[in-house]
Amino acid sequence: FQPQEFLRKKRDGEELSTDDIRAFIDGIGTGVVGEAQIGAYTMATYLNGMTTREIVDLVMAMRDSGTVADWSAAGIDPARVIEKHSSGGVGDEKITLLVVPIVASAGVFIPNMSAWGLDYCPGEIDMLDSVPGYDGAPSVQSFVDTVVRTGGAIIGPSPELAPADGTIFKVRDTTATVESVALITGSIMSKKLAANPSGVVISVGCGDGAFMHTLDRARELANSMSNVASGAGIPSVIMITELNSVLGTTVGSAVEMIETVDFLTGAERDPRVLELVLELTSEIIVMAGLASDLAAGRAIALDELTSGRAAERFGRILAAQGCPADFVERARDYLPVAAVIRPVFASGTDAGSGTGSDAGSGSGTGFVEWMDTTDIGLTLVELGGGRQKPEDDIDFTVGFSEFVQLGDEVSPERALCVVHARTEDEWQRAAARIRADVRVVANPAPGALPIIIEKIA
Ligand code: URA
Repeated sequence: FQPQEFLRKKRDGEELSTDDIRAFIDGIGTGVVGEAQIGAYTMATYLNGMTTREIVDLVMAMRDSGTVADWSAAGIDPARVIEKHSSGGVGDEKITLLVVPIVASAGVFIPNMSAWGLDYCPGEIDMLDSVPGYDGAPSVQSFVDTVVRTGGAIIGPSPELAPADGTIFKVRDTTATVESVALITGSIMSKKLAANPSGVVISVGCGDGAFMHTLDRARELANSMSNVASGAGIPSVIMITELNSVLGTTVGSAVEMIETVDFLTGAERDPRVLELVLELTSEIIVMAGLASDLAAGRAIALDELTSGRAAERFGRILAAQGCPADFVERARDYLPVAAVIRPVFASGTDAGSGTGSDAGSGSGTGFVEWMDTTDIGLTLVELGGGRQKPEDDIDFTVGFSEFVQLGDEVSPERALCVVHARTEDEWQRAAARIRADVRVVANPAPGALPIIIEKIA
């Protein structure tokens, strides 16, 4: 196998054979294919796309780069094993951490394979890595054991399950090649099929805070993943979600862990986050055969949440993955904290002595009409909360909390958000960027549109 010949074909828009694709993915595992060649492949695929047949071949080759979980051998009913995923969005990564304990507590088995942050969208595993002791890459045996014992586990790219994804993922993250239907389908569906569920529920973000910026592109990705699921013989529900603005009130690793714990314990629940969580959990509960319709599934999910059982289950799942047993009770004591934490006001009155200028919008009073959510995600990357090179470590402490929502009123008392930064300089740069990213107008502005745009079953 000659990687450069394979790349020439891809570059020139020729269709790749099943054998070509398998040899390339196998070559990643054996070291025949290097990181530069993966970068060339991802860029050529971003530019030229892949046919439906090629995408299916890519998913299967990536799945087969490792082993596949076996639930019958583990002694549980495979029909109760359901997986979920999100294609990514700014603030969306906490959703998986909320869904897993709710459905696990309801009796579903959910062996979740999630991911690190990708370009301007943060990731579940970066959030979990902010918790001391968390093991996001256990052996398959230990992953399966955790799912059997606690109903759920959340792991990242693993050396045993779809390992090709972990390698390609790191390259995509830093080469502006994420927003590709073929590559996202390959990444998500290879992991879902390696977890070997009886069905999948997936959300595809649509809008400025997601990878698919238009409804047509979101539908294309949803149909591509639905097609792979049908080909694999499992049912899927794919929800297209409205992600033009920040989802929930936090963005970043440790701050989103706090929002997750507060949501589960009932201290604070953002309404759009709650709606999305209930939509996803009810579909999963029905798919696992634990409720006859969505209304019944929703009632079960709500009861698991409001009774506190889901919060308790989250603690058990995390403890089984190496985290402190009392993490849910004492999250704020365990999570790392940034050096500079201050609110950013629309008026720029927070600018501090360093800039001497008022970068904001006049009086700083008004209503939030629009936000450049891609740039908010990129600001997190600049703060150190995302990667600029594949090998970079990220800073778990940085991010944004108390983020305004569309339609919210801001004033000299109500900030746009609180920025968590490593240094005063980094805080200043992020604050200026956030002020430019959030448009405040004098007249009342509408709130965000409903979180679910449509579902493809
Ligand atoms: N999540 C993944 O696991 N992969 C992607 O490509 C996008 C979101």
